[in-house]
Amino acid sequence: MKKLILLLLVCSHCLQGLCRQEMAPKSRSAVGSADFTLGEKEFLLNGKPFLIRAGEVHFPRIPRQYWDHRIKMLKAMGMNTVCIYLFWNLHEQEEGKFDFSGQRDVAAFVRLIQQNGMYCIVRPGPYACAEWDMGGLPWWLLKKKDLKVRSLQDTLFMQRSARYLMKVGQQLAPLQIQNGGPVIMVQVENEYGAFGSDAAYMEATRVNLRKAGFDKVQLMRCDWSSTFDKYETSPEVAVTLNFGAGSDVEKEFSKFKKMHPSAPLMCSEYWTGWFDNWGRPHETRSVESFIGSLKDMLDRRISFSLYMAHGGTTFGQWGGANSPPYSPMVTSYDYNAPIDEQGSPTDKFYAVRALMQNYLNPGEKIPAVPEPKPVITIPEFSFRQTSSLFDQLPPAHISDKIRTMEDLGQGWGRVMYRTRIDGSGVDRKLVVHDVHDWAAIFLNGRLIGKLDRRRNDHTITVPATPQVATLDILVEATGRVNFGEAIIDRKGITDSVMLEAGHEQQLLSRWQIYSFPVDYSFQADRKFVKRPASGPAWYKGSFRLSDTGDTFLDLSSWGKGMIWVNGYNIGRFWKIGPQQTVFVPGPWLKKGINEVLILDLEVPQKASIRGLAKPIIDKIVPDVSLLARKPGQLLELNGEQPISEGRFTEDKVWQEVLFKNEVKGRYFCFEALNSLLENDVTSSIAELQILGPGGKPVSTRKWKLIYADSEEVTSGNHAADRVYDLQESTYWQTESVSHKVTHPHQLVIDMGDLVPVTGMRYLPRTDKKKEGMIGNYRIYVKQEPFKF
Ligand code: GLA
Ligand code: CA
Repeated sequence: MKKLILLLLVCSHCLQGLCRQEMAPKSRSAVGSADFTLGEKEFLLNGKPFLIRAGEVHFPRIPRQYWDHRIKMLKAMGMNTVCIYLFWNLHEQEEGKFDFSGQRDVAAFVRLIQQNGMYCIVRPGPYACAEWDMGGLPWWLLKKKDLKVRSLQDTLFMQRSARYLMKVGQQLAPLQIQNGGPVIMVQVENEYGAFGSDAAYMEATRVNLRKAGFDKVQLMRCDWSSTFDKYETSPEVAVTLNFGAGSDVEKEFSKFKKMHPSAPLMCSEYWTGWFDNWGRPHETRSVESFIGSLKDMLDRRISFSLYMAHGGTTFGQWGGANSPPYSPMVTSYDYNAPIDEQGSPTDKFYAVRALMQNYLNPGEKIPAVPEPKPVITIPEFSFRQTSSLFDQLPPAHISDKIRTMEDLGQGWGRVMYRTRIDGSGVDRKLVVHDVHDWAAIFLNGRLIGKLDRRRNDHTITVPATPQVATLDILVEATGRVNFGEAIIDRKGITDSVMLEAGHEQQLLSRWQIYSFPVDYSFQADRKFVKRPASGPAWYKGSFRLSDTGDTFLDLSSWGKGMIWVNGYNIGRFWKIGPQQTVFVPGPWLKKGINEVLILDLEVPQKASIRGLAKPIIDKIVPDVSLLARKPGQLLELNGEQPISEGRFTEDKVWQEVLFKNEVKGRYFCFEALNSLLENDVTSSIAELQILGPGGKPVSTRKWKLIYADSEEVTSGNHAADRVYDLQESTYWQTESVSHKVTHPHQLVIDMGDLVPVTGMRYLPRTDKKKEGMIGNYRIYVKQEPFKF
């Protein structure tokens, strides 16, 4: 019976397909003969219904030599379209100097898509997100002190972004489908509803795209089902939604269908997996949950783009960060996608390929899977030459005040602040505001402590020092925030450094500031000696190859820093994981001698590496300091009066609780008493907002999650701070493996300031699962800290 139904299903799809002739693009279709438009509930390609089956890849995350291979892999997965972002900051690294050559030759990439008989969706920004430094915005914008981005209010931003879009137009407007190219749609901005609601800004950006030469192509935009109605766009812009593996497709589109009853439906980012943050467990999404919702979309003729079909690698310094709380991205962008970082097919790939066979158009065939790229291993080799960072300082900037990296004209890398401090017979406190993003602090060359922005660190103890001493603060930037209001993210030390003894405070000044940029020429200039290093240093080593191939260099015995191979900046590494190896593509290696340079800000346990055939991207070094609950800590709520209590419903939408009266408080405690599911001992929350006057969410900028009774951080990344990471698809979950950690479950948030509170909003986990959905709850708000 099951088989019969399946057969019927397949046949009905073939029949549907018969009436819907979908054509592959010809490499040289006549100008004016092709078109792509919006029809009644369908996209129309040359007037005929067309279902977009897109896969997203980012050409800067794939070595150019592999571009063609990856496009062919997408086709072999059953896709008919390739979706791409452009990152403004990749093409305009220096203000006014544009580069679309070599690895940045987007037009060449789009032509390759066409040569492979596929269509293309282009997402030029100006803002992209994509776990990319500053979401694709150039860092030099930050030289302007009061910069606003993604807003009409900032003329510099508007002028510079318009100029960039003009340059993109010069590259890609000739490739619009109406001009004979493969580009069927161009996206305006990116998920603007998750950031703002300034319709005029979106309109100006739309006009800028049209002026840039995208005069005929269909425009689109993307948002979440909870934010797409925050602003309106011109009716010529198709509205699409983004959501992830395991989503309830019907629900995601329900509001949208009511508002746009005759619009074609598209999920323009169907998240196949998720990105990884340093120090947090590797993210995965199961094949079943991913395939389930994909099949739902195919059955409903909903167009889609798999984000990512193949993630690749965020080489160099391009990785971004999320905030709040600040969490930088790892170098690998494997994304648990169907095609892995090295370009090989995974189980997810084969599951998609098999599913697609049932939804092809008449005469359409999915091509054979391309051969994977060869992989090599490299025997262990040592780094005997070192160059101590302290031994060879670049010329210093002299400044009374602290200056940020941007202010010094430096885009990425490391910066060291040096000054002299008076002698003192007692320990003192060093208070740094703020470290962006990680610092090692030295007194007379000796390491005395580290500060980590992920933990909101500001203070270390400076041991007594009888004489005047040299203080060095070596700061590493680990990625600019790429999402949300924290995107204005300057690097180095952003404000001030104080030295405190008892009640006495001294603002430190008279700085010598040293820039250590990421450019290869700077690293290659170092003078090396043959002796082990005992502090931050460059290491030089080499290996010989008789055959090249892809490899994963194992850096698990190293500390924290950056690695260059044959002059290519491969990216950041950090011993805390989950990524322990870095991907080095075969075409960047050569027969004979290959040179490796490593900058380690710590001291490696063993100064050697080897090349592995398989990556290690899921080995985390457990860090209890990141857990919201200190060992043995227990929240004491006896004697506390809840400000509100009630029961949530099964609705997977934002649910609001309004207090009878406004209260003033700084500490907020949410307590879940039970779950809506029977026998479920867990609690989960996707997002939580605390409401202030007028029901407006209180800013999360100063929030610190000070307590969560339990967090599931082994089977997945469900840490408690996920309730305010602004990502609706990520969620806090209490321990969910042993079933021994039972209700009640509590979260305590320190909002940083005393604020008026009027209520809260709760978003349940947004996938189809019900585990952890909260039933009865209590809310407490206090001016003083809770007792533990
Ligand atoms: C959003 C953005 C993407 C990417 C994903 C998460 O959907 O539009 O650029 O950041 O989230 O990977
Ligand atoms: Ca979240």
